[in-house]
Formats: sequence, C-alpha cells, structure tokens
Amino acid sequence: MLSSLTAHLCVLLLVLVAVVSNAVQASTAPLSATLTPEILNFTQKLDHSAKDSQETFQQSYQIVTDYFREGGPILFVQSAESPLVLLQYNVFIDWAEELGAIVATLEHRFFGTSYPEDFHFANPGPDDYAQLTLDNAIKDGVHFVNWIRETVPGAQDSKVIYNGGSYGGFLAAEAIIREPDAFYGSIASSPLLYSFGGQTLEGNPHHYAGLDMVSNIWFDESAEAAYKIQEATSLFSRCVAEQNCSDALPDLPLCSEANATQWTQLYGKVTSSYYSISQFNYAFVNVWPWAYPLQTAINLTLAASSPGEVLAVPLRGVSWAQDGCIDPNNRNLTGQPTFFGDSFQWIRCTYFPGSFGDSRPGSLLPSSNTTVGGDCWSPYAVPWQAPDFNETNEYFVEKLNLTLETLDQTERLLIVQVDYYARSSPYRGFDVICDYT
Ligand SMILES: *[C@@H]1O[C@H](CO)[C@@H](O)[C@H](O)[C@H]1NC(C)=O
Ligand SMILES: *[C@@H]1O[C@H](CO)[C@@H](O)[C@H](O)[C@H]1NC(C)=O
Ligand SMILES: *[C@@H]1O[C@H](CO)[C@@H](O)[C@H](O)[C@H]1NC(C)=O
Ligand SMILES: *[C@@H]1O[C@H](CO)[C@@H](O)[C@H](O)[C@H]1NC(C)=O
Ligand SMILES: *[C@@H]1O[C@H](CO)[C@@H](O)[C@H](O)[C@H]1NC(C)=O
Ligand SMILES: *[C@@H]1O[C@H](CO)[C@@H](O)[C@H](O)[C@H]1NC(C)=O
Ligand SMILES: *[C@@H]1O[C@H](CO)[C@@H](O)[C@H](O)[C@H]1NC(C)=O
Ligand SMILES: *[C@@H]1O[C@H](CO)[C@@H](O)[C@H](O)[C@H]1NC(C)=O
Repeated sequence: MLSSLTAHLCVLLLVLVAVVSNAVQASTAPLSATLTPEILNFTQKLDHSAKDSQETFQQSYQIVTDYFREGGPILFVQSAESPLVLLQYNVFIDWAEELGAIVATLEHRFFGTSYPEDFHFANPGPDDYAQLTLDNAIKDGVHFVNWIRETVPGAQDSKVIYNGGSYGGFLAAEAIIREPDAFYGSIASSPLLYSFGGQTLEGNPHHYAGLDMVSNIWFDESAEAAYKIQEATSLFSRCVAEQNCSDALPDLPLCSEANATQWTQLYGKVTSSYYSISQFNYAFVNVWPWAYPLQTAINLTLAASSPGEVLAVPLRGVSWAQDGCIDPNNRNLTGQPTFFGDSFQWIRCTYFPGSFGDSRPGSLLPSSNTTVGGDCWSPYAVPWQAPDFNETNEYFVEKLNLTLETLDQTERLLIVQVDYYARSSPYRGFDVICDYT
C-alpha cells in the first residue's frame, strides 16, 4: 500500500528537480559572486559513541546568518569526499534571503583540515581511521546544527534541511533515516542509493548504471561526437596498456614528452572528465572554464579531425588552456590524486561500497570490470577486504537501511536531485517509488 506521503513526494520530486536544476544553473547570481564567508573551526567530539571520551578535533565550517529571520530554516550543507564545499558555490546561498534562512556548511571529518591532531599523515594506520564511521559522520552534522540552534538567537526551533552531493547525497538520505529529530528533510544531489557491492553483475544488477547514464547523455546529445569519443578512448586505453601512446596518438598536442605514469594519469583525467561533464553541465565554479561544458565539448569534438585532437578537448578544459599545447606537468592534469584520497578509500572499503565507475561493452568509455573495494590497500600495507566484500547489492541496501520500505516509512522529506536529464540513473533514488504507483 502506498502512503499518501509517497504520492506527495512524487509530485514534489518533479517540481523540485526543476527548481534545483534551474537554481544550480543560475550559479552566477550576484549573491554567490560577492560573498566570501570566513572559514572557521568547530570543536567536534571525535567519538560520538563514547559518552565519557573528551577527545576532540577541529572541523572547518562556514556560516551566513545575515538573511536569517526568526523561525526561518537552517540550510545545512554536509561536504563529502573533498575539502570544504564553500557556501558561495552552493545553491543554498541563493535561497537564503527569500527563505530567511541560516546557511552553513561543514567539512567532512578526515578531509581538508578536519583531521584529529594526532593523525599520522606520513604513515597512517587503521587506528588513525577508526573514528571515520558512518555514525560519526552523521552525528557531526547533528552536533553542528544543534550548536547553531543554541547560539543563533531565534533559531532554537529552526527546521534543518540537509544537503550533500554524491557520497554526500547518500549521507543526506541516511541522515533523515537515522536522525529524524535533528533533520526535518534533505535534498540529496546525485546520491548513490542503490548500486552497492556485488563483484558480479548477478550480485549487483546496477553495476553499470552510472556509465549507462553517462553514455546515454552523450549519445542523445550527439551520437556523432559520442562515436568519436568511443574510438579515441578505446585507442587511448590500449596504448596506455601497451605503453606506446606517443606513437598511437601523434596528434595529441603535448608540450613535452609524458612518461608512463603521466599517460596513465592523463587517461584517468580524460575518462573522469567525460563522466563529470555529463553530470555538471553548467559553469561549475573552478571546475570548467566553459558555461555549457557538454555542448562546448561536443562542438569541439565534432571539429576534431583525429583521436588525439578529440582527447585534447577534455584535457584542455581541465587545464584551463583554451588552445595551445597540453602540459603533462600541469598540476590540474597530473598533479592531483586520480582518486579522492585515502579517507574516501577507507569509507568505500568499510561502509559505503558504492559501485559507479564501470562500463559495459559498447558504452561511451572502454569496458571495465573492477571489483568494488578491490583498491582497498590503504591504510594497510597490503590490499585487504572487508568481511562482507563479496556480498550483494541487496545485502548492502538492507544493511544501510535504504530499502524502499524504510524510505517509505520515514516521515522526513527526502528530495532526490537526479541527473539533469531526470531519467534512468542509478542515482535517482526516490523516483523508484514513483514507479510503484
Ligand atoms: C582550524 O583547524 C585547523 C586544523 O587544526 C588549522 O589548520 C586551521 O588553521 C584552523 N583554522 C582556524 C581559522 O583557526
Ligand atoms: C532503519 O530505519 C527505520 C525507519 O526509520 C528505523 O526504525 C530503524 O531503526 C533503522 N535501522 C537502523 C539500523 O538504523
Ligand atoms: C603499440 O604496441 C602494440 C603492442 O606492442 C602494437 O601492436 C601496436 O602496433 C603499437 N602501436 C603503435 C601505434 O605503435
Ligand atoms: C614521470 O614524470 C614526473 C614529472 O617529471 C616525475 O615526477 C615522475 O617521477 C616520473 N615518473 C616516472 C615513473 O618516471
Ligand atoms: C587549474 O584549475 C583551476 C580551476 O580549478 C584554474 O583556476 C587554474 O588556472 C588551473 N591551473 C593550471 C595550472 O592550469
Ligand atoms: C555548438 O554548436 C551549435 C551549432 O553550431 C551552436 O548552435 C551552439 O551555440 C554551440 N554551443 C556552444 C556551447 O558552443
Ligand atoms: C566485463 O564483463 C562483461 C560481462 O561479463 C564482458 O562482456 C566484458 O567483456 C568485460 N570487460 C572486460 C574489459 O573484461
Ligand atoms: C571473496 O571471494 C573471493 C573469490 O571467491 C575469495 O577469494 C575471497 O576470499 C572472498 N573474500 C571474502 C572477504 O570473503
């Protein structure tokens, strides 16, 4: 039986997806352009489950109370697998005045500057990560918003709306399920809610869904460009493996010779760029130099006359070089970790075994079948597996309390911001419930 709540959610989902998408695209709004809230530290308890423990760490945050009117909401952004997501880059700031809201963002523990003081950065071991748990990450948000309620006059009864994207979108869903007293509702942007674990396709039928979405977007927008990308990335993947990319891609205009490590990094940059261009088709501050990354990349791809020139398109975008040669020493291309660092690896290997990077044969990017958690080497010297490493998607959905039954039972509002085409996507979350009607 469907509750009326669910029916309302379906309608809300459709309406709000439109609102959120529009708002996000209007990211050049004057407010966000002129505001630079100070980055401060919140003294946070390290282990929320230990009542007697006094151990704390400094967790960075920003807050803007200028637009707050008594009784207005607290719009809370939980940063996720990255340093602090600055408030000036989040759409919530554009909503603050109209809603009379407090807007605040909190860095995720074990990212950016928000580490325990005694963390062994040079050589971290499992003990260093012991307090990086799902429960602690959600409780950080609870303590932070409760502190805001206690300290900002007129905010003691303010309702809190939780927002996060990607892994943070997953947190947004978990937050209302686990902490309904603290959080009135959440907006989950591109959350991963139903593609977990499963070392085989039988174990996780959604295993390829992320790249299916990416492929559909590119092929729908321009099949001609997509076929060129398919050909170029396939060639790229082969020459990286065979270590002869300078021969295989003579038209890729590098400023200087790249070594094998750098070729692998460039390949990673190319594939992650095709992924993210399809997800973020707007002037994403500090990410793309283009106002419409998808259409710009398609136009440049159509104009390219060889695989090397095709691959130059995302590389020029990421290195903010509109034309000219591509510098393999540019830090934006090869100077950053290809993954999100050790903390996210710990998260993926312990409590968030989301599966989203593989592609089936025939999709935009070369076929790959990696195992979720197959890259769990950190913080141990040797690769390791969690005890439930081989479990299925169904098992993890149950374990993480994300079954449709549970979502349907929560009395808190959950709005899932899907990919901007609002269609089949592994991240669509709640519209699965709409399918039931
Ligand atoms: C916040 O804490 C971090 C880590 O202890 C420190 O590096 C940073 O300087 C602090 N920031 C402020 C504004 O105190
Ligand atoms: C799962 O969610 C339901 C409904 O909100 C709740 O009653 C239950 O305690 C949750 N279980 C866990 C393990 O969080
Ligand atoms: C790259 O190396 C492979 C395997 O050695 C070879 O078959 C292929 O022809 C080479 N490609 C180029 C362009 O040199
Ligand atoms: C590749 O080149 C970079 C930059 O010059 C250098 O830091 C790195 O050590 C090189 N890697 C190998 C395997 O030669
Ligand atoms: C790297 O990207 C940033 C945007 O994130 C851009 O401002 C900067 O100019 C780029 N740096 C280089 C060296 O290309
Ligand atoms: C891409 O090319 C089309 C056709 O020439 C043009 O209408 C459109 O404005 C271009 N888009 C961008 C973002 O450059
Ligand atoms: C990945 O698995 C699929 C399905 O079993 C298979 O068709 C495909 O060839 C595999 N790809 C690679 C690179 O092994
Ligand atoms: C997962 O399955 C593989 C292959 O059957 C096995 O070698 C491995 O030990 C299993 N891992 C765990 C943690 O059970």
